[in-house]
Amino acid sequence: MPPSPALRSPSAAGLLALLLSACPQPPGASSPRPSAPAPSADKAAEAATPTETIDLEASARDPLSYARADEVVVRELDLDLEVLFERREIVGRATYLIERHDPAAPLRLDTRDLTVESVSIGTPRGERAPRWASAGYRLGAAHPELGAPLIVDLPEGVDRVEIRWRTSPDASGLHWLSPAQTRGDAPFLYSQSQAIHARSWIPCQDSPAIRATVRATVTVDRPLRPVMAAVDRGLDPTSETPRYRFALDQAIPAYLLAIAVGDLERRELGPRTAVWAEPATLPAAADELAELEAMLAAIEATFGPYRWGRYEVLILPPSFPFGGMENPVVTFATPTILAGDRSLVALIAHELAHSWSGNLVTNASWDDLWLNEGPTTYLERRIIEALYGRERAAMEWTLGAQLLRAELEHMPASEQALRPARRGRDPEAVFSDVAYEKGALLLRTLEGAYGRETFDPVLRAWFDEHAFTGQTTAAFVDFVGARLDAATPLPGRERPSLDAWIYGPGLPNDAALPTAGGFATVEAATAAWLAGERDTAALGEGWGPLHWLHFLGRLPEDIPAERLAELDSQHRLTATTNLEVLAAWLEVAARRGYAGVDARLRVFLTTFGRLKYLAPIYRALLSAENDGRARALYNEARPTYHPIARAALDSLVGFDPAAAQPASPPG
Ligand code: BES
Ligand code: ZN
Repeated sequence: MPPSPALRSPSAAGLLALLLSACPQPPGASSPRPSAPAPSADKAAEAATPTETIDLEASARDPLSYARADEVVVRELDLDLEVLFERREIVGRATYLIERHDPAAPLRLDTRDLTVESVSIGTPRGERAPRWASAGYRLGAAHPELGAPLIVDLPEGVDRVEIRWRTSPDASGLHWLSPAQTRGDAPFLYSQSQAIHARSWIPCQDSPAIRATVRATVTVDRPLRPVMAAVDRGLDPTSETPRYRFALDQAIPAYLLAIAVGDLERRELGPRTAVWAEPATLPAAADELAELEAMLAAIEATFGPYRWGRYEVLILPPSFPFGGMENPVVTFATPTILAGDRSLVALIAHELAHSWSGNLVTNASWDDLWLNEGPTTYLERRIIEALYGRERAAMEWTLGAQLLRAELEHMPASEQALRPARRGRDPEAVFSDVAYEKGALLLRTLEGAYGRETFDPVLRAWFDEHAFTGQTTAAFVDFVGARLDAATPLPGRERPSLDAWIYGPGLPNDAALPTAGGFATVEAATAAWLAGERDTAALGEGWGPLHWLHFLGRLPEDIPAERLAELDSQHRLTATTNLEVLAAWLEVAARRGYAGVDARLRVFLTTFGRLKYLAPIYRALLSAENDGRARALYNEARPTYHPIARAALDSLVGFDPAAAQPASPPG
């Protein structure tokens, strides 16, 4: 039976299918038709034509973006954002400092559901401010997934562009929360830009291969604190009303642009580290994350200096659709990691590790997502090992490999390669454990084959020598393969075949798989309990949350509801405060129709928005032939979910947003 996708289930095979079906059309399936038949507009259409024919390695095109890095590149992004809770809108002004590679080419930006109010072009005038003029521009027709290209004509000499726009209340990358969805009595806003949602709140070159430095000011229509994924520069002293300033001198791709606004406070944790949260959440958050500085030190010792200055974590309200998002300087995280015993901090280790793998060395296109998430998952486990020892790291490896194996069983072979054969798909649609766990296992296998003395410096050199660039899978294979062989030549039969790992299905035979390790006792106890040879009360002696997750993930699908009732009365699983364990338990209980969880299930589904938990639970409810209940619960909870989660779950549950009332703001 497949184990519970408790640990990373937006990636479970079923969710993959669900996200795919949520896409109205595969990206690139049809070309968007810009309204104006101008020649430049036709070129923009080509940028999103079917991607199979485009050699991404050789081309500057990103099939998920209208931007053309070979023509014009934005190097500096200067933002003024007004956050209007009243209208659920961001009103923005941006100046783009551009580098022109093709003097005849226009600037092509990505947008989705934006109202563009004006576009100006600037020409430098020596030391003085540039001369501004209104620009010729057109907004193409909207493609269902890519959004609409904004094409700005660039006469000779122009080196900057200014755009004013406003966002839609339904922007796919923004979540506007009512006070009822927070701990306090203020509303809340947060963004989620990865993979291609930055364009729904800022017109930008929304491709991971293109990087810009960022400056920003933010004003808010009520006394709330904005936080951006950048260095906090405090209040603008020249402004009479509060205007917050942010700056990031390190260039970043657009998917790392992020903002949150709410009743937020910061608490310092160490010389470089701090945590942000609503006041009611701050003490628990500070306690859970007390080891941030130690995590930083652990990874720096082996893989090179942290390049982003400060490292802070912002704990979001519970509707956040992901576990964590590695926004630079300020990781955004779900409050579900606040277990009270630091048992779920691997998630923070993961987001921190992205400061090397992903944010520093970025995947050149979303086809190379594994190059971002795989090494990050590997580094995450190295941090866990350094802080908590080999045994704990081994448990995390085992849980990860267990999820991967279960997922591979149901996945077409064509989806199992690290680098997918079909190019240009939205990573939300191809999100799976393959990028994370198979990617991490490849690095673990290389580590095992060459030894840490050889492997660690090569991985460090990969980061050092490609810092602040986008890299392809082919570049990784060439670099790592050559450096490892030069340092420690291995005979052919001992050298892992990178090609088999990257382009082939499944797990190659040479995979350095983790062993059950500390879970061996769990497996033995589970077998005995299932066979009726062990008391329910005796089960779970000496187990921590990870053991329970392993146990719940391996229960047979047809376990009788009475046995679940026994477990619950002995071990109070429905009352657990560890939300990872709770989610795994609710999934098992929902599948078997165990009614003891009903009240908590309803509260859970209307409070938490983390897709990894929601999708398996709704799927379990549906599989229990309880569609009526699944749908009733979904109708109630849907208004509290993030647009990304709604899009994914609508198709899973069979909810037709067009047929339903327009979603009214909750609370
Ligand atoms: N960057 C990802 C989240 C993501 C990936 C968002 C692709 C949109 C598209 C983040 O680092 C991540 O992987 N988060 C995981 C947690 C982690 C411990 C595996 C999550 O949210 O569950
Ligand atoms: Zn990640």
